[in-house]
Amino acid sequence: MADSLNTIYPIFDKMLSREDKESLLHQRGIMIWMTGLSGSGKSTVAIGVERELHNRGILCRILDGDNIRAGINSNLGFSEEDRRENIRRIAEIGKLFVDTGIVTIACFVSPTTELREMARKIIGEKDFREVYIATPLDECERRDVKGLYARARRGEVKDFTGISAPFEAPTNPDLSLDTSKMTLKEEVEAVIELINKNI
Ligand code: ADX
Repeated sequence: MADSLNTIYPIFDKMLSREDKESLLHQRGIMIWMTGLSGSGKSTVAIGVERELHNRGILCRILDGDNIRAGINSNLGFSEEDRRENIRRIAEIGKLFVDTGIVTIACFVSPTTELREMARKIIGEKDFREVYIATPLDECERRDVKGLYARARRGEVKDFTGISAPFEAPTNPDLSLDTSKMTLKEEVEAVIELINKNI
């Protein structure tokens, strides 16, 4: 043990608790877990919610495929095993944000019940709310914002969710939003209402 450690009393080492952070921020941490097909609108809704929360003085953090898969998960692809590791790491990171009192929105395809249940278990039932962005496949494919559906249909992207890899719709989400039937404003309001009930 380094000499200097002898002079530090354990009590001064104690990290502040989640409650300390939450009372500093005047809010409660929660995970809003958005699941849905690629191009369903998860990130668009999340960005709208983040702005609205920010305007109301609530600290929010979005985790999405683009920032996570380009960084900490850049070594992962789309096999079943890699998707599991992707979601496991995201849930662990998300838990750190939630434990800091932050409203955290995760936007990941998270295509199976098993993956979403793993995330729920890591984060903890009481802090986890599932939002299904239920935009139908044909609408996601029609929008094809990233051009990936066309590429997947041509066989250029393998294991593509909804085309050549499965997507299991959640059976009992806390909220379900079909972006082909609602306005962005309505979607944002619905998520804000869910958050307000829980923080
Ligand atoms: S997850 O299945 O592991 O949860 P994640 O949400 O991180 O997926 O990443 C999905 C995004 O990666 C899609 O929106 C799409 O832009 C891109 N992507 C690239 N290849 C695939 C693929 N084979 N299946 C699904 N999405 C893919």
